Amino acid sequence: MNPERIAVLGAGGFIGSHLVPALIERFGCQVDAVDVDFEKLEHRDPRLHRIQARIEDPGIVEQVTSRCRVVLSLTALCNPALYSTIPLQVIDANFTHLVPLVKACAQRRHWLIHFSTAEVYGLRAVDAAGNPSAEMNEDGSGLLLGPVHRERWSYACAKQLLERVIWAHGQHHGLPFTIIRPFNTIGPRMDFLPGVDGEGTPRVLACFMNQLLRGEALQLVDGGHQRRSFMAISDMVEAVGRVIERSKPCQGQILNLGNPNNDVSIAELGRALSRAFAEVVPQASEPRFEQVSAADFYGPGYDDTEQRIPDITKARRLLSWQPQASMSEMLPGIVRDYVQRYAPSIAAERNARRQQVSVA
Ligand code: NAD
Ligand code: UGA
Repeated sequence: MNPERIAVLGAGGFIGSHLVPALIERFGCQVDAVDVDFEKLEHRDPRLHRIQARIEDPGIVEQVTSRCRVVLSLTALCNPALYSTIPLQVIDANFTHLVPLVKACAQRRHWLIHFSTAEVYGLRAVDAAGNPSAEMNEDGSGLLLGPVHRERWSYACAKQLLERVIWAHGQHHGLPFTIIRPFNTIGPRMDFLPGVDGEGTPRVLACFMNQLLRGEALQLVDGGHQRRSFMAISDMVEAVGRVIERSKPCQGQILNLGNPNNDVSIAELGRALSRAFAEVVPQASEPRFEQVSAADFYGPGYDDTEQRIPDITKARRLLSWQPQASMSEMLPGIVRDYVQRYAPSIAAERNARRQQVSVA
């Protein structure tokens, strides 16, 4: 498909801010970009139409689905520190507020490309009978969430239920859809630095960058033995472009997008980031690591995925796509972005503190 106009909901977030300029460039199309915050989407182009709103605001779903035949939905609260602290908001953001969008797309037969998550697979990879398996597969894996009192799974459960709503509209009410399950995608502009442009605990990449920039110890939750497969944002953007081009084979499908070659422990990620940081900031102090329990770091109700490796056979086949960037290729650019964006404000903060101390 070569769409004339695409709606991108959550366009001001990490993935959205990379996707929007790439879609305009690739398809020469108009983009209706919806978000509450456009700080990260600096792109200037007459074909980009910013709509600053919440998707649950009256009229917004109607406005974008009446104009755009392709709708990419990325809005979410997708930060694990929120899943067990504000689970009701997490469930609303990832489920309740999106149900009207699914219905509107189904009524109009407009293509909904929805960003779900690898978290729907849950604690570890299992087959449909619950037996351990090596990789997570879209159509073969069971979805193994922890008990209800482990509120960490509020996000995965909300995302899974929305997948089921989308699937049912596809099967029974003619909705053209594609569900994307991203696996830990990282890159420049991911999340925020606490105390600089956000509050709370971001995802692991921004946590580690925050600590490196401040010369603090990197905190390894439960020893940092958990493993993730990290994919570069550039590989995600290329894959999504191909999904849109290949509408016929991709509609009605759930697609894992991730990089199984970059399966590393969180401790390894910390060491690799520290090395990349030392290359960019040669005067950086020696990296330090600190063990912290999940209960101390996230509070009660947290739980964790041990390992998350995507089976990307389907994406390879349907998209003729293969993720390219290794960890050592992607980390230097990411580190440079964080240093450029945040080092000046962290230095200013440090100077202000020193002045306060010397005045006192
Ligand atoms: P992000 O938090 O950077 O972006 C989400 C954006 O949605 C934010 O800009 C936020 O302001 C906006 N938003 C949230 N609620 C909104 C609302 N009600 N109305 C309007 N805007 C709203 O997250 P991201 O990393 O860019 O992720 C994008 C999507 O991909 C999410 O659905 C997420 O669950 C999914 N995902 C991402 C990853 C990853 O590794 N980055 C992995 C799995 C799934
Ligand atoms: C994330 C988020 O849930 C979603 O954004 C996304 O949907 C999902 O990944 C996905 O890619 O499918 P998770 O990988 O657990 O989930 O979140 P991160 O914050 O990236 O944490 C990764 C691991 O690092 C976890 O085991 C966490 O406990 C650990 N961690 C985090 C640390 O050891 N130290 C920190 O400072 C922060």
